[in-house]
Amino acid sequence: MKNQIKIEKIIKPFSKSITVSGDKSISIRCILFASIAIGKSKIFNLLDSEDVISALKIIKKIGVNYKKRKNYLEINGVGINGFSFKNNTLINAGNSGTLARCILGLCSAIDKNLILTGDISLSKRDFSRVIKPLSLFGVNIKNNKDKLPIKFIGSNLLRPINYIENKGSAQIKTCIILSAINTHGITKIKARTSRNHTELLLNHLDYPIKVIKKKNYDLISIAGLKQFNSFRYKIPGDISSASFFIVLTLLSKNSKLVIKDININPSRIGILKILNKMNAKIEILNKRKYKGEQIGDIKIISRKTFKSIKCPQNLNSSAIDEFLLIFLIAAKARGVSSFKNLGELNQKESPRLDIAIHFLKMIGVKVIRNQNDIKIFGNPNLILNNEYRIKNYLKDHRIFMMSVVAALTLGGKWKVDDKDSVKTSFPDFLKISKYLGAKIN
Ligand code: S3P
Repeated sequence: MKNQIKIEKIIKPFSKSITVSGDKSISIRCILFASIAIGKSKIFNLLDSEDVISALKIIKKIGVNYKKRKNYLEINGVGINGFSFKNNTLINAGNSGTLARCILGLCSAIDKNLILTGDISLSKRDFSRVIKPLSLFGVNIKNNKDKLPIKFIGSNLLRPINYIENKGSAQIKTCIILSAINTHGITKIKARTSRNHTELLLNHLDYPIKVIKKKNYDLISIAGLKQFNSFRYKIPGDISSASFFIVLTLLSKNSKLVIKDININPSRIGILKILNKMNAKIEILNKRKYKGEQIGDIKIISRKTFKSIKCPQNLNSSAIDEFLLIFLIAAKARGVSSFKNLGELNQKESPRLDIAIHFLKMIGVKVIRNQNDIKIFGNPNLILNNEYRIKNYLKDHRIFMMSVVAALTLGGKWKVDDKDSVKTSFPDFLKISKYLGAKIN
């Protein structure tokens, strides 16, 4: 099968240094903010993936021009409220939940109809989470049961809102912040802690945004209609992409890996904190700051034994895209690991909590589920000998990559469908795996 890969051998010991592509969250944010800046922004090391291409296609449709230069992308910002497009323009966010949610905020002040669509996976995802705050701002949204397609018409008379965001979703928070930028007056958000790239970028742009940090949430206030200028930005490596190789190294025999220039924003490194509590001993070297973000090199050495964990719930949001990988380590750990309140995992590109449980059971790991809480009964001697076939029915890139990591470290004969799914977030995933010595057909 053309879009399927086969793995029949575990990876041999390796000792290498790699980089991974630019951070997806920051890439999308840079494109959106550059489009409403005044003047030409230059973005270096932009992730070259389908989600990012969808973002570029959308800004083009709403009247923003960009040019690919030799080693950067130049975006010609039109300023706040500077978009121009025809009534009933169709925009397609492809597979990207982040783009789809954020674009609604970005376009909230334009009083023309836009129709937002997405691929089959995105069309199954919940949009009530952004429809609710946007309606309070005064955006008019017509849709079918809180799913795409959404027909919406912004308003040039938006009113600022006070909103409590309690899912810990950076997509919702960013959608609200973008809409607040389009709105005269001060919008206030009490947001459960989640990745804060938007706030840091706005801070770097000297935008009037205030954030007061509390234990599990932030109090954000943001003034609307304050124009900012174009900017230069070099996107650091994506910790969510690096994580596949972090776990690959941990589970491999006698291997060592350094992953360079990775964004280690504290709101993204839940996986490192969780795995270190499980005895992973991952180190961060060469720490430095860049425009409010933190960057470092991550050093990983394989481990023979892992401890189980009672995972603190306040790390859920900062590890939200990495739980599939954390579960693999839990499957090899000594003892029973427990994870709580993971309902948001079922709101991703596929229902990841359901699929992860199915996957773990398929490889012979005992799992007990109680609604959105799970217990994984680890087995340090877990070695696989059977044949496994992973059908990726919603083309979820992270299910594909996690399956490859399992196949390369746990044994067995694997067929994994839909290698093209990596194009959304990490097109070089298989190339880097092969560079580390993986035999993949
Ligand atoms: C993202 C936020 C997360 C994450 C997604 C990217 C972002 O989603 O899962 O991959 O860039 O804001 P939620 O904020 O909805 O949890």
